[in-house]
Amino acid sequence: MRILKLLTHAVLRGFSPQISYKPNEEIDKLVNAFVEDVKNHFSFEEELMEKNHFFAYHIHREEHRKMLEEINRIKEVWDRKKDRSALRSFLKEVFVPWLLHHVTTMDTATANYIVSQMGLIFLK
Ligand SMILES: [Fe+2]
Repeated sequence: MRILKLLTHAVLRGFSPQISYKPNEEIDKLVNAFVEDVKNHFSFEEELMEKNHFFAYHIHREEHRKMLEEINRIKEVWDRKKDRSALRSFLKEVFVPWLLHHVTTMDTATANYIVSQMGLIFLK
């Protein structure tokens, strides 16, 4: 989340002459950190789901896979064209709305399931 915030600010900054401009090299680092952060987070969730035999594991994992594909595509566009506007649009119009929806549906359902499983362990 911290990386997402830093990256979003960095690509927005380039658009306003009043705010200091971030060089492409700095955005490169943030894009790489963002990709790693998302991958690690998805892997963490997938491990938890697998360990807890979450019933909708494959559906949840598929949502992650599709989003990672999108992220890799936008990273590739960034690496090739250094197009801040494409990066900004992706974050604002694709990633953030997806994340909000994903957290309130898949992640919440997963967390509720795992917590309920834990509750069952304590009741046994
Ligand atoms: Fe998730």
